[in-house]
Amino acid sequence: MSLLYRYFNLFSVGNETPKERFKRLVAGGYTMNIQGKTVLITGASRGIGRSIALEFAQKKDIQRLIIVARSSDRLDAVAAEIRALGIDAVPIALDLTQPVEVNIAVAQAWRDYGPIHLLVNCAGVAHQVPFLQARLPQMQEEISLNLMGMYTMTRLIARRMAVQRSGTIVNVSSLMGKIASPTMATYSATKFAVLGFTQALRGELACHNIRVVALLPSLTDTDMVRRFRLFRWVMPTSPEAVARALVRGLERDSSEILVGWQSYLAVLGNRVLPSMMELISKLAAPLPESAEEARLREVRGHG
Ligand SMILES: NC(=O)c1ccc[n+]([C@@H]2O[C@H](COP(=O)([O-])OP(=O)(O)OC[C@H]3O[C@@H](n4cnc5c(N)ncnc54)[C@H](OP(=O)(O)O)[C@@H]3O)[C@@H](O)[C@H]2O)c1
Repeated sequence: MSLLYRYFNLFSVGNETPKERFKRLVAGGYTMNIQGKTVLITGASRGIGRSIALEFAQKKDIQRLIIVARSSDRLDAVAAEIRALGIDAVPIALDLTQPVEVNIAVAQAWRDYGPIHLLVNCAGVAHQVPFLQARLPQMQEEISLNLMGMYTMTRLIARRMAVQRSGTIVNVSSLMGKIASPTMATYSATKFAVLGFTQALRGELACHNIRVVALLPSLTDTDMVRRFRLFRWVMPTSPEAVARALVRGLERDSSEILVGWQSYLAVLGNRVLPSMMELISKLAAPLPESAEEARLREVRGHG
């Protein structure tokens, strides 16, 4: 018993009681209070990231939203929407695959607007392509943004959060981070990795009072999937629904936030009957397309 007590003491944060410490370490019990806080969201120029920014802005009690993506025009438009809701917005145009630029931008943002209390790593890219036809640059883009981009940003912010001994980091994975899907091999691999990274950091950063959470949207109606050949039996959800699920999940202290009943069913099915889920995801994946279909889709995508 005394060994167990000494173990809990190792992870003590601030003046918390053993009961509070137990709740934080074992039950994942944190309270989400965004009042007066600064939030940084990557990939906020459109899609899920934009909806998350607007959902937070509607909460009114947040102090500032720092929004990051490459397109400054789109970021300016989202910043205007946030300001119209009475919240301070700071757009930062940045390519997250460029670590030096990210390093400089984070240092400047922390100096000018910090400390950042909540980081949402939402920027991501997906290419749907049969593996045998996949091109190396597409795979590299998925790995450099979904993994290395998230890693760079998390490293820079987490170190600063550790100094202030508080913070929350949300990493956007996907349902495909739990159940991989044919035609999405590299994307699924990056999203599995995001979950592993998140789980490891959750344990490691708890003693710095930093909470690390994964958001796992299912198919969501955004630019990302407009050129996808859709999966059978999967109904796309809206980015607004994903944003609401995130806020609800943070309030409930969830460490992995799923979106919609289909996701809960799929994860449960995968746990109980993994081989059946594998068969279902194979059947649900788009049928192989002919070269002509692929060419037409490329043309439509660039049109
Ligand atoms: N849509 C889905 O079905 C779905 C399902 C599960 C998980 N997710 C995940 O949810 C996240 C958001 O996806 P989404 O559907 O909202 O995609 P989206 O509409 O395509 O938005 C992607 C965002 O990432 C930004 N971005 C792309 N490349 C970037 C780069 N190199 N540097 C900085 N920002 C970059 C984009 O802005 P710029 O182009 O202006 O840079 C945009 O804001 C991703 O992590 C995705 O994997 C999506």
